[in-house]
Order: sequence, then C-alpha cells, then structure tokens
Amino acid sequence: MTTSTQPTASNPPVTISEELGVKRMTSHHSVIKKLKQEYPTSIHGDKFWSSSYLLMDYLNDNPPKKNAKILEIGCGWGLTAIYCTKQFDAEVTGVDADPDVFPYLQAHAGLNEVHIKQMVKKFEELDVEILADYDLIIGGDICFWDQLNDVLFDLFHRAKEAGVDQAIIADPQRQPFVDLCARLDDDFSHEVWDWELPEPTPANGDILVIDFNKS
Ligand SMILES: C[S@@+](CC[C@H](N)C(=O)[O-])C[C@H]1O[C@@H](n2cnc3c(N)ncnc32)[C@H](O)[C@@H]1O
Repeated sequence: MTTSTQPTASNPPVTISEELGVKRMTSHHSVIKKLKQEYPTSIHGDKFWSSSYLLMDYLNDNPPKKNAKILEIGCGWGLTAIYCTKQFDAEVTGVDADPDVFPYLQAHAGLNEVHIKQMVKKFEELDVEILADYDLIIGGDICFWDQLNDVLFDLFHRAKEAGVDQAIIADPQRQPFVDLCARLDDDFSHEVWDWELPEPTPANGDILVIDFNKS
C-alpha cells in the first residue's frame, strides 16, 4: 500500500528539518549518506538521540548564563551543542571518545552557521585541569552501559573539584543511568526531573541536574 508520506518522484523526501531553531539533515540528505560511508561511528553516535531534545527543552526553560562555557560530553552529532551556541551565545566544546562523530557534528555546525570546538577524549580522560575551563557540563543518553555508571560518578567528582557549576544530563531512563542517580545522594546536591516533550520530536525520560557548588 502506498501512503502519502512515502517519498515519490513528485513527493521527494525531506532532507533538512528544523526543530527548536536548529537545522538538521535527515538520513535522506546526500551529505549524511556520504558521511555514513566514510565515517562509520562505533559507540552509538550514529544519529541524533531523542535525549538531546529533552535536554534542549529543559535548557529552554532553565537557560545557562549568557556566554557560558559549556562542555557537551558524549556529544555525538552535537545537536545540543549547536542549540546552546545559537540560543545562548554559549561557547561550547563537544567531546566524544569516537572521532568519527565529528564530521557529522561539523556538517551540522556549518549548516547552522555556528562554531563548535571539538575534543576527542573518553570521559575517563577529562581531568580536573580540562574540566576547570567550563561552567556547565551537559550530556544526552551517555549512561547506557553498566561500566559508565562508575565512569560518570568519578567524572562528577572531578568536575566538583574543578569548580564546574552544574551538570545537566538527559536520559531515556536506561537502568545504568537510574542506578547512577540512585548513588549520588551522599556526594552531590542533585535533582532528577521526569521530563516529557510531546513535540517537535516526542521524547520522555529523566533530567539529572547536579549543583556542584551546593553541599
Ligand atoms: C547514545 S550516543 C548519544 C549522542 C548524543 N549525546 C545525542 O544525544 O545524540 C552516546 C555517545 O557517547 C559517546 N561515548 C560513549 N562512551 C564514551 C566515553 N567513555 N567517553 C566519551 N564518549 C563516549 C559515543 O561515542 C556516542 O557519541
């Protein structure tokens, strides 16, 4: 059965969409098709994950200070990094263990006419000296394996020592993330918000907010 939403010669596929003021290329875009052949990503950085939309919606309601220095950890294609640069004049660095995500991030930074710095590093390699450069850490869907629980717990400790103000992490309530939130009580002042976004890209999950300056 043919439906009106299927691409046809007279109804070509959508190649660029715009959500929350950020343009993104769809999988039908020739640039994405080419990048997928040249840069096969290896740790799930193969698309924009819906937690990014939750994170953008939360930040829309709770904006960072103007010109904040933000580190997006496990940035993947960097949708939230681009959003923060466009909406808040933030200076954002995207960090990811997989170097193959960055051609996608930079293609979208170009499409949105913003500059995003990039850094190839694992969470484990983000030491106090690096973290001390940032006001805010953000991340979407970055706690998806059990071992990432310890890795992120240790990273939050280094962030506190480095003087970072806050970390805001969105997640679709994967078990390692739920377990991570459950062990923060003794060490950090934090809140976990149940967040739902009906549109433009339906998403739901949790938003973890850690205030490193509060005890
Ligand atoms: C599920 S994707 C989410 C990507 C992006 N935040 C989003 O919401 O679209 C997880 C990302 O974390 C990165 N990642 C996984 N483990 C990592 C680690 N130990 N250090 C740094 N990045 C990591 C992956 O390469 C991938 O880009």
